[in-house]
Amino acid sequence: MKLPSLKIGDLVSKLPIIQGGMGVGVSGYKLASAVANEGGVGVIAGVQIGFREPDFETNTLNANVRAMKSEIKKARELSPKGIIGVNMMVAITHYDEMVEACVEANVDLIISGAGLPMHLPKLVEGSNVKIAPIVSSGKAATLIIKNWIKKYSKIPDLVVVEGTEAGGHLGFKREDLEENKKRSLEEIVTEVIEAVAVFEEEQGKKIPVIAAGGIYTGQDIARFIKLGAAGVQMGTRFVATDECDADMKYKMKYINSKKEDIAIIQSPVGMPGRAIRNKFIKSVEEERIPPKKCYNCIKKCNPKETTYCISNALIEAVKGNVDNGLVFVGSNAYRIEKIISVKELIKELIEEAEKYE
Ligand SMILES: Cc1cc2nc3c(=O)[nH]c(=O)nc-3n(C[C@H](O)[C@H](O)[C@H](O)COP(=O)(O)O)c2cc1C
Repeated sequence: MKLPSLKIGDLVSKLPIIQGGMGVGVSGYKLASAVANEGGVGVIAGVQIGFREPDFETNTLNANVRAMKSEIKKARELSPKGIIGVNMMVAITHYDEMVEACVEANVDLIISGAGLPMHLPKLVEGSNVKIAPIVSSGKAATLIIKNWIKKYSKIPDLVVVEGTEAGGHLGFKREDLEENKKRSLEEIVTEVIEAVAVFEEEQGKKIPVIAAGGIYTGQDIARFIKLGAAGVQMGTRFVATDECDADMKYKMKYINSKKEDIAIIQSPVGMPGRAIRNKFIKSVEEERIPPKKCYNCIKKCNPKETTYCISNALIEAVKGNVDNGLVFVGSNAYRIEKIISVKELIKELIEEAEKYE
C-alpha cells in the first residue's frame, strides 16, 4: 500500500504518521523537527518542558512557558515547512497556561490526553491551532465531541485512539490491562470510527481517526489504514533514533530491554503506565520515596502521599540516570535492535507498508 497523506483541517501531512509526544523531554524540538522534515507530524511533549531552564526549580511555571515557546520556535526554524504539534496532558496543574503558550507560539496542532480535554476549544478560540483529544474508547470520543459541539460548536481536527500497548500513561483501569481482558487496538479503533461517524454525518465534516499503541512496522500502519484509520501515532520507535532528545543511555535502555523487563506500573498521576521495571521501579514497589520538593505538576498528586515524585523520576531518566529514574516504553520496545536516523526509520516504514496489499 502506498501510504496516503493525512488531512488535518487545512493542513496536509505528506505521511499519515504522527510521532507521539513523549515527556519529560524525550520528544523535544530535535525529534519533532526531524519527523516533520520527513513528511510526518512532529510532536513536542509539553509536560515539564522547562526542566533544563536555570530557574526551573524556583520558577517552574515561567520556565515551562518560556521553554515551550522556545522549543516550538526552534522546531519551526529547523522545519519551516513541516507540521509541528505539542502534546499537552490534561492532568497537569497549569494546563491552561501551557496551552495558551502554545497558541501564542503558533503551533500547528495540540494533542491532549491523560484526562478529557473538555475546554480545549475555548483555549484556542480565535486561532488556527488544530486540536485533537486522545481517547481509549468510543464512549470517551462521543462524550468529548458532544460537549465540544454543544459548548463551542467545534469538532476535533483529529482523534487519537490510544490502545493498551502504548508507552507512558494508559487510559485504562489496571484490570483492563490484564492479558485475558485487554481489548485489541483494532477493536477500539473500529469502535471510535463508528462513534465519530455519527458526528461526521451530522456536521458534514471528516474527523480523522489515528491509531496508537504498539504500532511497530510499516505493515502495521497499512493494516490500520485498511481498517479505516486515517493514520497512526507512534512513540516507542522514535525513541531509538539519533534525533530523539533523550540521553543516549535512555535509548540504550530500549535497545537492551527484554520482553520481561517491560511492566505495568502505577503512576502518581493516578493512572497505570508502561515502563521498564528497573532498579527504581523495584525500589518504589518496596518503599515510598517522599518527594524532596513538590513542583505542583499534576492536579491529582498529593505530595504527602505519593509513592514518588513523577517529575523527578522522569527528568532523571531523560538525563541518563536510567537506573534511578522512570523509563516509559511501549510494549514493543524490546524488539528494537539499533539506533537509526529518523530518515532511515521513515524510509523503512514506507517500504514495509508498500509490501502490504
Ligand atoms: C517515553 C514515552 C513517553 C510518553 N509520554 C507521553 C506524554 O507525555 N503524553 C502523552 O499523551 N503520551 C505520552 N506517551 C505516549 C506516546 O505519545 C504514544 O502515543 C504511544 O507511546 C504510542 O505507542 P507506541 O509507543 O507503542 O508507538 C509516551 C510514550 C513513551 C514511550
